[in-house]
Amino acid sequence: MEESEATGPTEWVGRHEVGVGPWQGPWPDDDRYDPDLLEHGDRRNVVDPYRYWRREAIVADVDARRFPFHVAIENFQHDHNIGTVVRTANAFAAAAVHIVGKRRWNRRGAMVTDRYQHLHHHAGVAELTAFAAEHGLAVVAVDNTPGARPVETAELPRECVLLFGQEGPGLSPEAQETADLVVSIAQFGTTRSINAGVAAGIVMHTWIRQHADLSKAW
Ligand SMILES: C[S@@+](CC[C@H](N)C(=O)[O-])C[C@H]1O[C@@H](n2cnc3c(N)ncnc32)[C@H](O)[C@@H]1O
Repeated sequence: MEESEATGPTEWVGRHEVGVGPWQGPWPDDDRYDPDLLEHGDRRNVVDPYRYWRREAIVADVDARRFPFHVAIENFQHDHNIGTVVRTANAFAAAAVHIVGKRRWNRRGAMVTDRYQHLHHHAGVAELTAFAAEHGLAVVAVDNTPGARPVETAELPRECVLLFGQEGPGLSPEAQETADLVVSIAQFGTTRSINAGVAAGIVMHTWIRQHADLSKAW
């Protein structure tokens, strides 16, 4: 199915239409443009510089400047935060998102951003850590477990996989044992933990603050 026909279940539908209508004037002579979008308009959840571009052209453009941090989340019980994690990883141009455990995940919270993100599946933590070793990535497990280092003061490795646990059990013991570094997010209230999708956003943004060139942000 063509990208423009494939409005997903959570593509934005609001009071004000997002995006642009049909292209006005002579069509651009550039392979990155999608004739169907030029003809009918582009209402996708993408930033304006990518309006009317084919999906493959957008992915290739982001690929050229993705950051070297990956994001992984354990999915042994169908965690419902994965869509949120994928969307945030997309916003921060993460290299890839890794689902560890069950292959299926609920795409609702992703807001169709998964189309522009590289997704990998690993049956277990051992497979993820093997991928990390092969690609020279440090495994940074994220959970507020005893001995974890505060992410507020820890330096995150530039080439890394940020690994999150799921609601309920949190990070698996195997993930905690094999990680190169375990970091926690400081809390001050009564709850034992914060939502995994929120935790993922905080830690991804910590990586951005430490390593990204902010002059290149949109
Ligand atoms: C909701 S928590 C899991 C439940 C938690 N173990 C508990 O006892 O309440 C799900 C995941 O969110 C992340 N998380 C939540 N709060 C966190 C915190 N304060 N510091 C670091 N990670 C946190 C971790 O990755 C964790 O595995």
